[in-house]
Amino acid sequence: MNELRHIAIIMDGNGRWAKKQGFAKRVKGHEEGAKRVREITIFASNYGVKYLTLYAFSTENWKRPKYEIDFLMKLMDIYLKNELKLFLENEVRFETIGDLSKLPSNLRDRIAYTKEQTASFTGLTQVLAINYGSRDEIIRAVRRAKEAGVELTEENMNDFLDTAGMPDVDMLIRTGGEQRLSNFLLWQSAYSELFFTPTLWPDFTPKELEGMIDKFNKIERRFGGVKDE
Ligand code: FPP
Repeated sequence: MNELRHIAIIMDGNGRWAKKQGFAKRVKGHEEGAKRVREITIFASNYGVKYLTLYAFSTENWKRPKYEIDFLMKLMDIYLKNELKLFLENEVRFETIGDLSKLPSNLRDRIAYTKEQTASFTGLTQVLAINYGSRDEIIRAVRRAKEAGVELTEENMNDFLDTAGMPDVDMLIRTGGEQRLSNFLLWQSAYSELFFTPTLWPDFTPKELEGMIDKFNKIERRFGGVKDE
């Protein structure tokens, strides 16, 4: 068994799922995808995972059509409104990474309220990456450190990243068949085990995640060292 503290997921394939199902609009896939977020969160919480980081909106996603951006912003707002009950019942803490300053103010308020309501929980922390890009995060971290007059080291870097206080990523999963990181948690996944599946995010199940965790547990993680003699 390996220690599993942090799972990060690139939830790809929503648009293709909608098309496959015959929906006229790809945003239907996002709507269905939000339901999987709930199921995977409950599973991770019950499994005893400490952090579940989900890529909900990247710094590059602003290039999408306005109606899709508006839909995603509204969906996240509705999701957080509905999910507060789930967070409270399961003692899930809610956090975000990414630059929230560009988000609509109602969503920013909702995020702040949800964080405040769940701040004392010590079980799973669900982290939504919103307007997140790893390069943007690293640049902001470097600026923060400079402002604080701190010389960056490998050890203190995380204190200045949005993931301050969080452990490195143990498992990084991407659904939807592509095998790339798309500017997600580049610093934090230096030693992550990578899992790619062709399953489109709205078809992803806790059972498939469980299968990946089984594989993860069989991996001998050496972090650049050698096997114990
Ligand atoms: C990628 O699929 C997915 C996104 C850009 C957004 C992810 C958002 C959700 C899963 C739902 C909202 C989340 C929450 C927490 C409410 P894609 O559209 O790029 O799919 P495609 O590659 O098939 O086109």
